[in-house]
Amino acid sequence: MRTLPALDYHDPAVHLAEREAVFGREWLSLGLAEPVSTPGSFVAEVAAGWPLLVVRDLAGELRGFHNVCRHRAGPLVDEPTGTRRSLVCRYHGWAYGLDGALRSARDSGLSPAELDGLDLLPVRVATWRGLLFACLDAATPPLENWLGGFADACATHPMEAWTAGPRCVHPIAANWKAYGDNYLEGYHVPLVHPGLNRAIDASTYQVDVGDGWARHHARARDGARTIGTWLWHWPNLALNLYEHGLSVERWYPTSPTSCELVLDHAYDLTVPGAEDANRLDVEASDVICLEDKVICEAVQRNLSAGAYGVGVLSPRHEQGVADFQARVLAARAAVAPPVSVGVPVASPPQTVAVAGGAAGDGHR
Ligand code: FES
Ligand SMILES: [Fe+2]
Repeated sequence: MRTLPALDYHDPAVHLAEREAVFGREWLSLGLAEPVSTPGSFVAEVAAGWPLLVVRDLAGELRGFHNVCRHRAGPLVDEPTGTRRSLVCRYHGWAYGLDGALRSARDSGLSPAELDGLDLLPVRVATWRGLLFACLDAATPPLENWLGGFADACATHPMEAWTAGPRCVHPIAANWKAYGDNYLEGYHVPLVHPGLNRAIDASTYQVDVGDGWARHHARARDGARTIGTWLWHWPNLALNLYEHGLSVERWYPTSPTSCELVLDHAYDLTVPGAEDANRLDVEASDVICLEDKVICEAVQRNLSAGAYGVGVLSPRHEQGVADFQARVLAARAAVAPPVSVGVPVASPPQTVAVAGGAAGDGHR
């Protein structure tokens, strides 16, 4: 099976197509919902170039908007989290209620008729088991339907009861798909993550590819911190599970050749020794993120250099990558003429034994 062509990892036209066809259509992970749990609280995040704002209004209802003023596109908030009783644009001071309604257009001289219809542009928002999502497309299925078998795969982990911990942000000079490809295989682990590789029995490593999601699992060695389970959902959501916590991971494109990796950690602080254990999990996660960043950036430089056109995928180790790349192509084809060819469309759910692969601590 062939890979996506190298051009797909640096072409500005592909970047724009995926921004619309992938991130304009799917539910977008915004990490943990805890920062928008009280009236007046908000979360703001730029997801694939879309500036999104989620607020809990004063009546307790969750609402989502584009973080874009209807006057001349100023931002309503600049911070990633905070509280507001109203949303006042940072540019000329137009004010909106937390329901998105335009309340005042400061000293504009515009008539009520001219201001009619200039409420904030809404986006769909939803929470699920302590996680926060937004969606730009009214036609996308409800969140629980969209999650599908992914929801069953984490049913035994009481993550909604865990306490929000640190957020770790890693800028990566690589296309978002290069990081996604990397997440979806354990083939690289023995070479790229030596510490992680010592934590599990590689002969038990498996990848289950579902319909829009995947589960990686391996038996952890005695004394290892990992439980050997990692979950992924199309297009860029991952849950890295620990014994008493998890990290919610996402990687949005920031340009044709860069993305931003964000991990929100959460823990069960009722477990004795939880704070020390959690600190070790975060430190291990940071090491692995750095190892992945280094290899993905090196791959990106080679994909952009021109010598490499298209590669092949291992049927033993890289079915998850094949499924991911097929979804990218299918998404782009659904909204525009395909900009590349090379990978057949997705196959049905399957279990893949990955002999000789490996994985380890809190993240892959
Ligand atoms: S851009 Fe928001 S008030 Fe002018
Ligand atoms: Fe990795």
